[in-house]
Amino acid sequence: KEVATELRTGYHFQPPKHWINDPNGPMYYKGLYHLFYQYNPKGAVWGNIIWAHSVSTDLIHWVALQPAIYPTRPFDVNGCWSGSVTMLPNGVPVIMYTGIDPHKHQVQNVAYPANLSDPFLREWVKPDYNPIIIPDRDINASAFRDPTTAWYGPDGHWRLVVGSKENMRGTAVLYRSRDFKKWIKARHSLHAGLTGMWECPDFFPVAVAGGSRHHQSGVDTAELHNRVVAEEVKYVLKVSLELTRYDYYTVGTYDHDKERYTPDPAFPDNDYGLRYDYGDFYASKSFFDPAKKRRVLWGWANESDTVVDDQHKGWAGIQAMPRKIFLSRSGAQLIQWPVEEVKSLRAKHVNVSNKAIKSGKYFEVTGFKSVQSDMEAVFVIRNLDKAEKFDPSWRTNAQGLCKNFNSHVKGGVGPFGLWVLASDDLEERTAVFFRVFKTNDTNYVVLMCNDPTRSSYESQIYRPTFAGFVNVDIAKTKTITLRTLIDHSVVESFGAGGRTCILTRVYPKKAIGDDAHLFVFNNGESDIKVTNLHAWEMKTPTMNKLLEQ
Ligand code: FRU
Repeated sequence: KEVATELRTGYHFQPPKHWINDPNGPMYYKGLYHLFYQYNPKGAVWGNIIWAHSVSTDLIHWVALQPAIYPTRPFDVNGCWSGSVTMLPNGVPVIMYTGIDPHKHQVQNVAYPANLSDPFLREWVKPDYNPIIIPDRDINASAFRDPTTAWYGPDGHWRLVVGSKENMRGTAVLYRSRDFKKWIKARHSLHAGLTGMWECPDFFPVAVAGGSRHHQSGVDTAELHNRVVAEEVKYVLKVSLELTRYDYYTVGTYDHDKERYTPDPAFPDNDYGLRYDYGDFYASKSFFDPAKKRRVLWGWANESDTVVDDQHKGWAGIQAMPRKIFLSRSGAQLIQWPVEEVKSLRAKHVNVSNKAIKSGKYFEVTGFKSVQSDMEAVFVIRNLDKAEKFDPSWRTNAQGLCKNFNSHVKGGVGPFGLWVLASDDLEERTAVFFRVFKTNDTNYVVLMCNDPTRSSYESQIYRPTFAGFVNVDIAKTKTITLRTLIDHSVVESFGAGGRTCILTRVYPKKAIGDDAHLFVFNNGESDIKVTNLHAWEMKTPTMNKLLEQ
């Protein structure tokens, strides 16, 4: 079998060929969802970057249009890099993106739709007054990119931030404008941290539980200024750290008059913050979906095979499934969940209920093809007594913990969970699992891991274990849920209803097509019960067929 086609995703967003990275300017316009993304039209490696463009009615089926933005002018002659869309109050969407100029300087440009009555927004016009934001003397011109969606203030000014760095300080450089044309840099940045370059910042409001709107409802970025709204919202600042290649966020407050964002004290110092996803997920961007009053998050999942593999496959990079995001009831974190439309792809269904898995045992979920599937399971832990002792120093190193205590290392409570994309002999398998530790007699820590070290016979590829802690009261509920989207080379998991997410890319040689199996295992001393497991084969949606133009 041809590996290149066997490993292509079925329902994750992907163009027919070549390289993709960051999602850009997601929006909803006249009944259509638009997604632009960083694309190399000439090959499966990064380079020649333009904005490719696709549209969808449901975030699932996609049609490809001609590229929206590509180098045509001096202000973007060396590349059209990441950016965002802002909906102006008159309903006009405007793209702001980073152009690479003849001196390789990063400058910010705008583009407007040529024809507002075209719901596809096929053609974009770059006004002659570009670039509209250029790096001043104090700014490093090769670290100045990825403008956010702008928000409108009660003082009649638009504001947005651009990612940058000053030496080791990552910064969100703040600009304001009355007309979206002439932009002035504020005296101080919106926020900064000692983390290295901040790429792809994202700044948006989220509803709090107890406010007048449902806490799962999204809040339009354009409303960010509104004082009535401000009392019932918090703000999220997400940055993509060039150094670690992960996306981090904090939740905090925004003072419009002082033009400052302040993370809540509960958030770890604010230099890093929490991760959206503890796996392969970067340069994400959210947008407010007015059709379903929700905030949707897009994120890029890079390949983790070699450049040679990518060239051989002829493609590299996917977008993670779009996720609805909202603030948890307690306000301690964001919750992420695949958009409900994902369910429309569910086909053949199998169910396992009330099945105990004794210590050291496993079973296969049969009767369906798991290579392209969606799985939801509820695990119940009868007895927490055998949980291993937790060393407080492990708090900051979930990933290291998962590496040492991988799915083969027997434990007290756990490891239990799934082996996905597994060969029938289990020689190849990717483990998605939980392990419960105890800090004292009444307090527990839940670790969620993704261990791809045995995912493939191929030895060259990058296979780090990924892990995060799960914020649940296990002593009370004795239950933990897991949803995993399996898609040939993607394993995208949502622990505890979307509290902890881990996406990995894996490249099995044997566990492909109909030879990919799904198992449930328990390598802990304590028995575990699967009260319910539902799994569905997933249909293949239309994925970026070129629309005849
Ligand atoms: C993030 C990033 C952005 C940049 C784009 C270039 O992955 O490096 O900072 O605008 O990709 O493709």
